[in-house]
Amino acid sequence: MINHQILLSKPIIDKHEEKAVLSVLRSGQLVQGPQVKKLEIKFSKLVGAKYALAVNNGTSALHTALQAVGIGLNDEVITTPFTFVATANSILMTGAKPVFVDIDPLTFNLDPNKIEAKINKSTKAILVVDLYGQPASYLEIIKLAKKHNLLVIADAAQSIGSSYKSNPTGCIADITTFSLYATKNITSIEGGMVTTKNRNYYKIAKLFRHHGQDEEKRYFYSGLGFNYRLTDLQAAIALTQLNRLKKITLKRQQNAHFYNRQLVNIKGIITPYQAPKTVHVYHQYTLRITEEAGFTRDQLQHYLAKKGVQTNIYYPMPLYRFSYLSTKTNLKDFPNTELASRQVLSIPVHPLLTKTERQFIVKMIKSYAQAS
Ligand SMILES: Cc1ncc(COP(=O)(O)O)c(C=O)c1O
Repeated sequence: MINHQILLSKPIIDKHEEKAVLSVLRSGQLVQGPQVKKLEIKFSKLVGAKYALAVNNGTSALHTALQAVGIGLNDEVITTPFTFVATANSILMTGAKPVFVDIDPLTFNLDPNKIEAKINKSTKAILVVDLYGQPASYLEIIKLAKKHNLLVIADAAQSIGSSYKSNPTGCIADITTFSLYATKNITSIEGGMVTTKNRNYYKIAKLFRHHGQDEEKRYFYSGLGFNYRLTDLQAAIALTQLNRLKKITLKRQQNAHFYNRQLVNIKGIITPYQAPKTVHVYHQYTLRITEEAGFTRDQLQHYLAKKGVQTNIYYPMPLYRFSYLSTKTNLKDFPNTELASRQVLSIPVHPLLTKTERQFIVKMIKSYAQAS
């Protein structure tokens, strides 16, 4: 038996982060110093993009990216409704309009086959999300974007370390954003990154991060900008975490593969689908509880909570259902999103999960399913 709560996420913070933070504190250079620069160089190498810009969270990374590629008033940006709200809010921030398209029922990512019907003269970009750590259908989406002269922006907040046909997430889309929030695969507590191969996008993004000022020419403003800077303290933590990325990712994948093997052939429980030629980094391990199960997703979640297993629903309410984000939604256009929001349940997959904890979670799910 387990006599403690099994958490859904747990950051790995140890003496390496403590040492890195102390060293920055003692250096006296707390902002826009060498750590931020070091992080940007290391990150750009990791994802194979020429430029990486550190910002203070994943939401400001999205806002910065949209601004950098020139999204603005009256533009339309096609995106998924099955994501964290920051994806769509950042589109609104620029004055543009999010246009939602249904998801693929297997990957939970934007369905490339349903995008074309929503493209019109105002459409400027497709904003994909690599949900749960699985890359979007980049090949099909980039093809479509080329055909209609659209930009592809990637919200890779959940997918650091993943890849699509051997290309790391971060160098595939025109511009990509990451989150380094405390629950993400690696963290700087709060933080974000923007990556691109395009020098012009990078230059605009850099100005936007710092009130529209050139670092060499303070108090002269080239355009709209904000304070989206990351501190050196946070950059030092992120640098330490980056050293562990491979190990952390492998552990998440091993946990996921264990669940895949153990939870196979349970009526009404569907384990995650992994698309061919993608590397999934399992930010979340998300089950689908179908009508065949004989119990609901919410009942299973309640049962696991009673047994001390923390789970969560990403996401219970599709974004088109919030009136400030969308009007005149026809629910018939979103059968897969509607179903997914009722069926998904994410269980702990983080790298600190012990063998005993994994086995306990499987045992609890199996015994609940058998008794139902
Ligand atoms: C898909 C997605 N986009 C954007 C964000 C926003 O990132 P942050 O919380 O760092 O602002 C998150 C993280 O919560 C996310 O999961």
